[in-house]
Amino acid sequence: MPGTKKVLIKTFGCQMNVYDSERMTESLANYGYTETTSPEDADLLILNTCHIREKAAEKVYSELGRIRQIKEQRRLRGRQTQVAVTGCVAQAEGAEIVARAPVVDLVVGPQSYHRLPELLYRAKSESRSLVETVFPEEDKFGHLPRRAAKHAASAFLTVQEGCDKFCTFCVVPYTRGMEFSRPVSAIVAEAQALADAGVAEITLLGQNVNGYHGEGEDGRSSSLAALIRRLAEISGIRRLRYTTSHPRDMSEDLLEVHATEPKLMPYLHLPFQAGSDRVLAAMNRKHTAADYVELVARIRQARPDIALSTDIIVGFPGETEDDFTATLALVEEIGFAQAYSFKYSPRPGTPAAKIDGQVPEEEKTERLHRLQRLLDSQQSRFNAACVGRIFPVLFDRSGRQDGQLVGRSPYLQPVHAFANSDMLGRILQVEILGAGPNSLSGVVQAA
Ligand code: SAH
Ligand code: SF4
Ligand code: F3S
Repeated sequence: MPGTKKVLIKTFGCQMNVYDSERMTESLANYGYTETTSPEDADLLILNTCHIREKAAEKVYSELGRIRQIKEQRRLRGRQTQVAVTGCVAQAEGAEIVARAPVVDLVVGPQSYHRLPELLYRAKSESRSLVETVFPEEDKFGHLPRRAAKHAASAFLTVQEGCDKFCTFCVVPYTRGMEFSRPVSAIVAEAQALADAGVAEITLLGQNVNGYHGEGEDGRSSSLAALIRRLAEISGIRRLRYTTSHPRDMSEDLLEVHATEPKLMPYLHLPFQAGSDRVLAAMNRKHTAADYVELVARIRQARPDIALSTDIIVGFPGETEDDFTATLALVEEIGFAQAYSFKYSPRPGTPAAKIDGQVPEEEKTERLHRLQRLLDSQQSRFNAACVGRIFPVLFDRSGRQDGQLVGRSPYLQPVHAFANSDMLGRILQVEILGAGPNSLSGVVQAA
């Protein structure tokens, strides 16, 4: 019966989790679930979790504490509540979650979401907690329902999952499994459905998206570059992006698409993690600082107006002050439009967690502050340099002020401008007049 039950999914972690949450919502809609934003009204509460750093993983348990009270209050009102934990903590901790938090009815790893409705039903009818964390042979995407028409200007589309790189600090190869690329035909069908629903921008997702090597429409293996060219043929799709890339997999043909495909936005997220070659080797990153500099030069040659963002870790075990200075130097040398930086967090089961010479917490905090001061100044400088330019802006939401819309520049900066709300979902030329640390403002140009 449609609309008889309510679900609330709380999403943590990366964009792939955001995508998975949307797909779970769609799959549950076929079983009568509609979305709610109020936990007290939810018959089903799902935490779609992240295991990347300790803080992210611990959030799950504080949430579950709150959920235990909600479930109890609902029980007193004669209402049943199911609680499911999905995502990377589910995969990494499995049955431990139920042991630590008996409020949980179901634990489902990221590869089994297509079985969610069936598993929820079984947990209820057998009145026991179920844990499902095997990596099944079948491909979950093939079993999820077609994309529902969701009115948004921009959408995520997962094309690749898992990672074989085994950076020594990272849990992703263990939580998401080995690399898997979806076939081109399935991706094209999904992109077409999104375009038909009015989506103008698609961000292709993968933990190591530029390692994409799915089956092409001709039966041969397709590169990410070929996939981008194919998707650019869909007329409703005006903009394409992809994330996250590993420096080792930035192939020549991908640089070529950056040079030649106007729908591919001139913005690239390319994590380098550390500036010291000794640390990079200990991280098993398979590239040096010089490799990264040389790669960025080639990318900029292909697409001179490209802007870069990155991920950086400070305080990897054994990182000295000199190693850290090399990270600052690399940031200075490249110049980033945006960046994410993190204190190293030892993760269970990863090789780096066992290395001697863990950096004290205060040291990590101090390095992170120094790094973030530099990154913030680069971002502010990049934003300030946009003043006076005219950017195509894809408007995707209403702003805080009356009559104001917010969109994205080619460089993913939020841009505020006054425009009629029927401009949502459209790309308009905007003259940039103001720049803040995290966003721009401007005026829409007459057509
Ligand atoms: N697949 C992507 C992103 C992986 S996770 C990539 O290869 O770049 C996103 C970011 O989290 C990583 O780039 C890294 O900077 C950070 N990260 C991963 N594991 C971490 C850990 N144990 N401690 C701190 N930061 C970590
Ligand atoms: Fe993790 Fe990215 Fe390294 Fe893969 S390439 S192990 S996802 S940091
Ligand atoms: Fe987190 Fe899993 Fe994404 S660990 S960053 S949710 S792949």
